[in-house]
Amino acid sequence: MNIILLIFTTSILVSAQNNTIERTETVDTLDIARVWAGHPVGFSLLTHPPYQFVAYYDDKRQLTVAQRLLTVRTWTHHILPVVTGWDSHNYIALAIDDDGYLHLSGDMHVTPLKYYRTIQPFNVATFHRFDRMTGTNESRATYPRFLRGAQNQLIFTYRDGSSGAGNEIYNIYDLKMKLWKRLLDQPLTDGEGQRNAYFDGPVEGPDGYFHLAWVWRETPDAATNHDLSYARSKDLINWSTGAANKSLKLPIKLKDCDIVDPVPEKGGIINGNVKLGFDTQGRVLISYHKHSAQNYTQPWTARLENGQWKKYQITDWPWHWNFGGYGTLQFSIHLGGVTKQTDARLIQGYSHAKFGSGTWLIDPQSLQAIGKVQRQTLSPEMSRIEGTFPGLGVKTSADLGTSDKTDIRYVIRWETLASNFDKPRPEPLPLPSTLRLYALKTIIENAPSGR
Ligand SMILES: *[C@@H]1O[C@H](CO)[C@@H](O)[C@H](O)[C@H]1NC(C)=O
Ligand SMILES: *[C@@H]1O[C@H](CO)[C@@H](O)[C@H](O)[C@H]1NC(C)=O
Ligand SMILES: *[C@@H]1O[C@H](CO)[C@@H](O)[C@H](O)[C@H]1NC(C)=O
Ligand SMILES: *[C@@H]1O[C@H](CO)[C@@H](O)[C@H](O)[C@H]1NC(C)=O
Ligand SMILES: *[C@@H]1O[C@H](CO)[C@@H](O)[C@H](O)[C@H]1NC(C)=O
Repeated sequence: MNIILLIFTTSILVSAQNNTIERTETVDTLDIARVWAGHPVGFSLLTHPPYQFVAYYDDKRQLTVAQRLLTVRTWTHHILPVVTGWDSHNYIALAIDDDGYLHLSGDMHVTPLKYYRTIQPFNVATFHRFDRMTGTNESRATYPRFLRGAQNQLIFTYRDGSSGAGNEIYNIYDLKMKLWKRLLDQPLTDGEGQRNAYFDGPVEGPDGYFHLAWVWRETPDAATNHDLSYARSKDLINWSTGAANKSLKLPIKLKDCDIVDPVPEKGGIINGNVKLGFDTQGRVLISYHKHSAQNYTQPWTARLENGQWKKYQITDWPWHWNFGGYGTLQFSIHLGGVTKQTDARLIQGYSHAKFGSGTWLIDPQSLQAIGKVQRQTLSPEMSRIEGTFPGLGVKTSADLGTSDKTDIRYVIRWETLASNFDKPRPEPLPLPSTLRLYALKTIIENAPSGR
């Protein structure tokens, strides 16, 4: 089977002559450790030649950081005094600064900030517990993320507060003084004690702006997400709207912000399925879903076109996803962002409980799904479940760093049960699974034409 064109909408089909097949081959594997398989929680892989670092929860759920020289096939493991619970929010964020010191934060869900930094460069055995970054608004932290600013500054962001009532905090690291200070002297968004924002981004676009999309949520109930919103900035400090290019006063409040789509509560939009992307001309795209007039949960993409948000329905899914409730939900729909392939075609990944999964070929004008591309981003053996316990699935983390070889990308893979609304599972539990490093090669082939 070559390129398959499955989703037919009102658009014309593109000719099949430029179709490519993207597959992935394993070049090498290296076991890292035995890890917890009772519930999923994100691990981190960070390649920084000549080193490679991995942060994970081991078989006893202890936070562990491993490192190796890329030329050496053994890992040095260092256990930190953190044992994680049953919460799938407790993922681990890892970064390295320009002097080689490692920074780590994680195991938080509306809990005091946990922050570790190494005392020596490139040495996980020297992780020291700091916790404090600036000392204020650090008692109810969630969603840690390290990113780089416009001048490559190390930035850290997290949510201060709870679901339904939280603010996004941005700190910047002073490399010389080894100190964190506020990048913004106020939160970026303010839920006014009523709601909080769930973000995708900031993502640096081809236009040199950082783009940020979010939904507001009134309570911890996921059905109360509403109002797809957007802002952009050149420096992460001065933010403006997209549609009117109007400067925004911080913190951004619901009444002031650039509403891309005014989806109401219970309207079918959810945090986690709001994804930024860019089209062939570098214009910003936001993909999301919402319920239609027939009460079907349909995927849409909004595009900023000459100062106006235009919205496009991507395909037709005659099915209602009735979501709501508290804790980490099992998603019946996953939407990826729209991305440009090396051959300039636009693609978008998705999965749906009823209509399968795959990668759409996206029409650059209508943004509709006009076909499917055959794209295998994991090697075949990575998708094969090794454990025998019922319900195990594959979890992977992409590399936060840079590969030492242009044609090789690194991914870590392990197996776990799905999330359980952040609640403990009764016995019996699966045995620990193997956390393994994969060195992967992507192979792009031309599909025979006329299929
Ligand atoms: C499709 O193939 C033709 C002929 O090889 C080439 O000229 C054209 O640039 C290709 N288009 C894309 C979008 O790759
Ligand atoms: C800390 O939180 C308070 C109340 O939530 C808020 O008013 C204040 O602006 C926050 N401070 C910073 C620096 O973000
Ligand atoms: C960015 O914001 C700062 C602080 O409010 C202000 O002093 C500066 O003029 C702004 N810069 C631009 C380019 O708007
Ligand atoms: C938005 O406005 C600013 C200041 O007026 C201008 O410098 C910038 O080019 C505008 N950006 C876009 C994308 O139009
Ligand atoms: C949509 O379907 C859900 C689930 O069946 C139902 O609870 C809800 O009331 C429906 N909404 C509308 C507007 O029909």
